[in-house]
Amino acid sequence: MDSLPNNSSSVKFYSGENIPLELHKVRIVQKLHLVPIERRLEALYEGGFNTFQLNTTDVFLDMLTDSGTNAMSDNQLSAMMVADDAYAGSQSFIRLQKAVEDVLGQKYLLPVHQGRAAEHILGVAYVKKGSMVPMNYHFTTALAHITECGGQIAELLYPEAYVINSEHPFKGNMNIEALEECILKHGKENIPYIRMEASTNLIGGQPFSIQNMRDVRAIADKYGIRIVLDASLLGENAYLVKQREEAFKNKSMSEILLAFTGMSDLIYFSARKLSSSRGGGICTNNLAIYKELEALVPLFEGFLTYGGISIREIEAMAVGMYETLDETMISQSPSFIKYLVEEAMKKSVPMITPAGVLGAHVDAMSFCSHIPQTQYPAGALAAAFFLISGVRGMERGSVSNQRDENGNETYADMELLRLAVPRRVFTLSQVKYVIDRLSWLFDNRELIGGLKFYYEPPVLRFFMGKLEPTSDWPQKLMAKFRADFGESL
Ligand code: F0G
Repeated sequence: MDSLPNNSSSVKFYSGENIPLELHKVRIVQKLHLVPIERRLEALYEGGFNTFQLNTTDVFLDMLTDSGTNAMSDNQLSAMMVADDAYAGSQSFIRLQKAVEDVLGQKYLLPVHQGRAAEHILGVAYVKKGSMVPMNYHFTTALAHITECGGQIAELLYPEAYVINSEHPFKGNMNIEALEECILKHGKENIPYIRMEASTNLIGGQPFSIQNMRDVRAIADKYGIRIVLDASLLGENAYLVKQREEAFKNKSMSEILLAFTGMSDLIYFSARKLSSSRGGGICTNNLAIYKELEALVPLFEGFLTYGGISIREIEAMAVGMYETLDETMISQSPSFIKYLVEEAMKKSVPMITPAGVLGAHVDAMSFCSHIPQTQYPAGALAAAFFLISGVRGMERGSVSNQRDENGNETYADMELLRLAVPRRVFTLSQVKYVIDRLSWLFDNRELIGGLKFYYEPPVLRFFMGKLEPTSDWPQKLMAKFRADFGESL
């Protein structure tokens, strides 16, 4: 029985229709706001054409992120009610420690308020001027903390990772030859650690394989360098290993997770993703590493048994950690994403393939091939899509990049609109609405124009930056929407 698939897309329909089936029921609901397009246009101007600056009263489907927005389970919510509120020595922390040991196989845990707090602590502890951190690919906050501490990064994916439409099952794999070259070029003494990011976020939520991790481990051992695993999206990465890596198809989620963590020296995570709660953590089996970092937690985060996280959230983290082992839960988001990607592509919308995790990724470079990268095609597509649908996605392209040390733009390898599909939040008809509006926008794509910054903060500009359209294209797009959809919301 255990080896039978137990996930959202493994239920066959008599009709032959191929759709993912929800394996949960909805017991708490939240009303949404689908406001008219005229209001959405105003909201865009108010928010500087930056979807981070929108107010949720103007947003219909919030596909900005899965961070802190996954649906919590009944068991998580009930655990929050029995939390042991104490500054020090809380039993809630003991329960979390046990969950981390059971699920990730790590004895020592340092709680931090979220993923980037772990990146901050690692930066302060290990990165200095002249440091080089090789990684499969950067995440915005990981990069920002390394550069803040004076370090540099080397992104070492295989060329296949940058191919928009590929059948490669593991685009997040680290290029092993390039890793060894990087170590020889920069010197192992300048490499504080190798960073492996599970379900590599910025290239479309693409996993790496266990075999790749083994190969990275062998190189790390050869040169005596530590491996840091960013496990924020490890659950989904493990699920895709089960789906795509032949040797692991009959292994349990637990065995796969432990295989990854067992090959890491230090693991950190955003619990906002990993355990559908809030918070974050750093964990290890190496007491020396624990001791190197221990003092930094009370300094920056909070006492060692809460790390800046509310105790209630610590309870939700502990339960959520165990739920990561449940294939029916972990499969829901990737199955919906796969459906969204495949159906959108049937309508010619350019999407990243294979479908990854955390969201569906629209290839803005091809969708808006008439918009030069200097005018931020992914930012423009995110704004245009919100305008015509009320769906809020996230720009994952050049706006999300940071300028180089001389203040020059660094254009992103990929210009993506990410439509996040948080776990167990949206229904299939809502996903169908997304596909419908994406397809309409694709057919009217020539009406989308570019953007330019009028306020650009120096760090993490994509959060607070404000942009404006390069012409009156939003008004023209709205007029076409009204012509085609009449009075429709
Ligand atoms: N690592 C990865 C792979 C992430 O995706 C994130 C956050 C972080 C670290 C930082 O964690 O937000 O808890 O501080 N990703 C969110 C996203 C923000 O929308 O993809 P955090």
